[in-house]
Amino acid sequence: MHGERFSLVKIIAFNGSPRPGGNTELLLEGALKPLREAGNEISVFKLNIMKIKPCQDCSGCVKTGLCIHSDDMSKIYDALREAERIILASPIFFYSLSAQIKAMIDRCQSFWCEKYLLKKSIPAGPRGRKGLLLLVGGTLKEDGRHAAEVVAKGFFRTVSVPEHETLFIGGVDAIGDVLNHPTAIHDAHEAGLRLGR
Ligand SMILES: Cc1cc2nc3c(=O)[nH]c(=O)nc-3n(C[C@H](O)[C@H](O)[C@H](O)COP(=O)(O)O)c2cc1C
Repeated sequence: MHGERFSLVKIIAFNGSPRPGGNTELLLEGALKPLREAGNEISVFKLNIMKIKPCQDCSGCVKTGLCIHSDDMSKIYDALREAERIILASPIFFYSLSAQIKAMIDRCQSFWCEKYLLKKSIPAGPRGRKGLLLLVGGTLKEDGRHAAEVVAKGFFRTVSVPEHETLFIGGVDAIGDVLNHPTAIHDAHEAGLRLGR
């Protein structure tokens, strides 16, 4: 008999919160814990401390699918091509994703050109590509979740991630509130495990 086989996957995560040790980071770490323990290769991009210029709509990527601007997105473009699992983690800011995450997503217009104009998708690889959207919000209202979901879905499809799961934790506002939520960290752990499969 052979034991259950598992293969390691390349995982990248984007933290869109400006608050170190905030609810986004804590929820993200909850999801990453089982993936780290399994030995997967994980890179976390703290977008708030990266230099990412908003998309200039210069059409520089239209013919090549490559952005002509040079900043910290260069590292992200390579990572997005190679990753097999992609996590977007963001606080809800004004009913949507944070500006930090949105700037990164807008710069993926180059992938949009590559996929839809040049008809070249990022290859799925043997283990496929899967996503996870982690959201935290100060209120229990779900309006922000819905708006964030639409944006995230557009992002995931553009970078050829055909399926993603969403975990939204509302009612967490002060730093660390998510640790007192009855299910958040457990739910993140389970979502992380599913992502790794
Ligand atoms: C600029 C700003 C806008 C916000 N807008 C919303 C909102 O629309 N809906 C909501 O539920 N919470 C909103 N919040 C609260 C944050 O989502 C909440 O405090 C979250 O836990 C912050 O995550 P963090 O600790 O990772 O930074 C807002 C907070 C800020 C600073």
